[in-house]
Amino acid sequence: MNSQDALKRKAAEAALQYLDGISVLGVGTGSTVNHFIELLASFKSKIEGAVSSSEGTTQRLKKLGIPVLDLNTVGDLEIYIDGADEINPNLQLLKGGGGALTREKIIAAASRKFVCIADEGKYVDYLGRFPLPIEVIPMARSFVARQMVKLGGKPQWREGYVTDNGNQIIDVHNLEIFKPIELEQTINDIPGVVTVGIFALRPADVVLLGTETGVRTLTAS
Ligand code: A5P
Repeated sequence: MNSQDALKRKAAEAALQYLDGISVLGVGTGSTVNHFIELLASFKSKIEGAVSSSEGTTQRLKKLGIPVLDLNTVGDLEIYIDGADEINPNLQLLKGGGGALTREKIIAAASRKFVCIADEGKYVDYLGRFPLPIEVIPMARSFVARQMVKLGGKPQWREGYVTDNGNQIIDVHNLEIFKPIELEQTINDIPGVVTVGIFALRPADVVLLGTETGVRTLTAS
């Protein structure tokens, strides 16, 4: 395990303390969450199951014998555990590097508590150094890209990649996101956009950052 991976593992371990009394949880996507899924296996007798944010996560959960439940049948969730590509001091996130942003945003919205797990390298003053993913309906890809140029970004098609929902992804470079809520709303309003990877309207409630010296817990003020 390399050192960044070890920090992800620490954050994933710290998330286990939030599972007391939880019957159904939401599970995100990505390499940090993959650590959490491995650890979740030892909890499987205590939970009814998990709502998954991607086909990849579903496969991993099933492989470990953790039942995967449909969000339509379980209703709102007590807790959602997921990673992020960037986290700012207001616990607003940039997500979607793994392409699962739409299902992630749905589960985050349907959860009473969103616990984000990450290595400390994800913590930034401002979002936007990491290219901003946008899931788009395929026929709208170029149109949405042109709107992103007008907003000062440099869009790049994630060519060959198809989301779990059958859509495409544009990664937008060169954005400095000083007003995450406003930009999330502006991009949400562009026809053809399915989901933008800014999670500011529904930020995390708790961030667990794996650091060399332990786990730093950030909470919404
Ligand atoms: C998946 O689409 C993303 O939103 C992930 O949550 C994010 O990319 C974090 O992934 P890692 O834990 O692999 O860095």
